[in-house]
Amino acid sequence: METIADSEYSVYIADLALRDKIAYRAARKNMQIHSAIVLKINNELSGFFTYELNHEAKEFCLLQSAMEPDKKDIKIYSLMIDKIIEQNTYGYPMIMTVSRKHELEKPSVFHDRGFETYLVKNDFEYMVYGELSQIRLKLLSHITLTNLWKTTKGEWLKIKKEWNKQIEEKGEKYNIENPRYATREGCWQGESGFSNVVLSKQKVENGKIETDKSKSLNSNASVLDPVACEVILRMFMPTKGARVYNPFGGGVQMGFVTGANGYEYLATEIRQNQVDVNNAICQDFYNTKWIKADSSKYKPKQKYDLIFSCPPYYRVEKYVDYDGMPPEGELNHLDSYDVFIKRLFEGYEKAIDVMNENTFFIVMVGDSRDKKGAYHGMEAEHELFFKNKGLYIYNKIVYLESEFTRRAQAKKTLHYRKFPKSEQKIYAFYKGDMKKIKELYPNIGRL
Ligand SMILES: C[S@@+](CC[C@H](N)C(=O)[O-])C[C@H]1O[C@@H](n2cnc3c(N)ncnc32)[C@H](O)[C@@H]1O
Repeated sequence: METIADSEYSVYIADLALRDKIAYRAARKNMQIHSAIVLKINNELSGFFTYELNHEAKEFCLLQSAMEPDKKDIKIYSLMIDKIIEQNTYGYPMIMTVSRKHELEKPSVFHDRGFETYLVKNDFEYMVYGELSQIRLKLLSHITLTNLWKTTKGEWLKIKKEWNKQIEEKGEKYNIENPRYATREGCWQGESGFSNVVLSKQKVENGKIETDKSKSLNSNASVLDPVACEVILRMFMPTKGARVYNPFGGGVQMGFVTGANGYEYLATEIRQNQVDVNNAICQDFYNTKWIKADSSKYKPKQKYDLIFSCPPYYRVEKYVDYDGMPPEGELNHLDSYDVFIKRLFEGYEKAIDVMNENTFFIVMVGDSRDKKGAYHGMEAEHELFFKNKGLYIYNKIVYLESEFTRRAQAKKTLHYRKFPKSEQKIYAFYKGDMKKIKELYPNIGRL
C-alpha cells in the first residue's frame, strides 16, 4: 500500500507495532503517511514492513518491520525484504538502520539480501542497497552531525586514511616525495617547536645522544584534513555549482579532494615550490590548479560557487620557497599582526567580489598568541570582518584535534594558566538569501 493510513491495514500495523515494542514508531501518525507491505501466511496477517519513497532526496528508506511473535522466521522475513526491494523501480539507494541486537532486523539478514554497511554506531549499522557513492553526503553528515567535528574518531580516521592513500599514490606516480606535506617540512614554529621536541625520537650512537628530526617535523605542519575538505565541499557546494576558489592555497588537500570529486579548483599561493608540487600531484584532475600570486592583489577572472580558505595563523608556521626564504608578499613574515590581518582581509575582499549569489565562504581559522602570550583575537576579527562585508555568519564549527601533543604541552603551560588550544574554527559565511539554502543545496535525505 502506498499510504498506510488510507489502507485497510493501518490498525493492524499500529497494533503489531505497539505489541512488538521495537517497531512502535510505525503506529505514529507521521509514519503512517508512508508506504508498507503486509505479510500474510495462510491468509493470516503475520507481519509488516514500512518504507518511504522520497523523490526529492532520490532515496528509498526502509523504516520499521515486525512479525507476529509465533511466526518469527528469518527465511520468511527475508522474503519481505526481497519484496520491498522489488518496490524500488527508480534505482534509488535503499537505506536501512539495523541493530546487532534485533532478532530479525539485523545486519547479517540484510547483508545476505545484498545490503552493505556504510556506518557503525554502537550496536547500530547503517546499511545501503545500491552504490556507496549514492549515500556519501549522508555518511559525511552522520560523522559530523553537530558543530563539533571530532576528527579523531574511527569513522573519520577511516575516510582520512582512504584520502591519504590516494594522495600518496599520486605522489608516487608523479615522483613527488612526501606529497601530503611537500614543501612544509619543519615549518611549525609554535612554542619554540615544543611538540616537535615531544614527538622527535632520540637514539644513542657512538656514545652520543642524537635526535632524529627527519620524521617528527612533518606531523606538526598544519596541512588540511582531507575529510574536513570533503565535508566542506559536499555540504557547501550548491547542487548546480562547479567551481571552488581558495585565496591561500597551501597544501594539496583541498584541491585534491575538489578535483577528485569532479569540480574545478583554483588556488592562489605565494610560494612557487608549493604551486609546483600541488599541480604535479593533481595533473590528472580536470581544471584543478594552483597559480603563484599574492592573493591580496590578485583578482580571479571567473565567478565561484564556493570559496574556501585556510589562511596562515600569524607566526605559527614559516612558509619558504625554493630558496629557503619567505617570498615577497608572504603574510606570515610581515612585521606586525596588524599589517598581517590587513593584507589577509584584502585577499578575502577580492574573493568575496567573485562569489556567486547564494554561496558560502568557508574559512578554517585558528588563533595564535603574541610575544607576550595574549591571543591576537583572529577568530573574532573574522566574524566581524565578514559581517561588516554583508555576509551572514551561518556556522561556527569547532574542529577538534588530537589532544595528544596538547596534553604534553599543558604540563608546561598550565603553570601560566594557558590551556593548550586543541581546536580550530571552521566558519561558514553566507552571501545571499538564507531561505534559498534548502532548495539550492543537495538534499541529504533521512538521517
Ligand atoms: C597556513 S597555510 C594554511 C594551511 C593550508 N590550508 C594547507 O593545507 O597547507 C597558508 C598558505 O598561505 C600562503 N600565503 C601566505 N601569504 C600569501 C599571500 N599573500 N598570497 C597567497 N598565499 C599566501 C602560504 O604560503 C601558505 O602556504
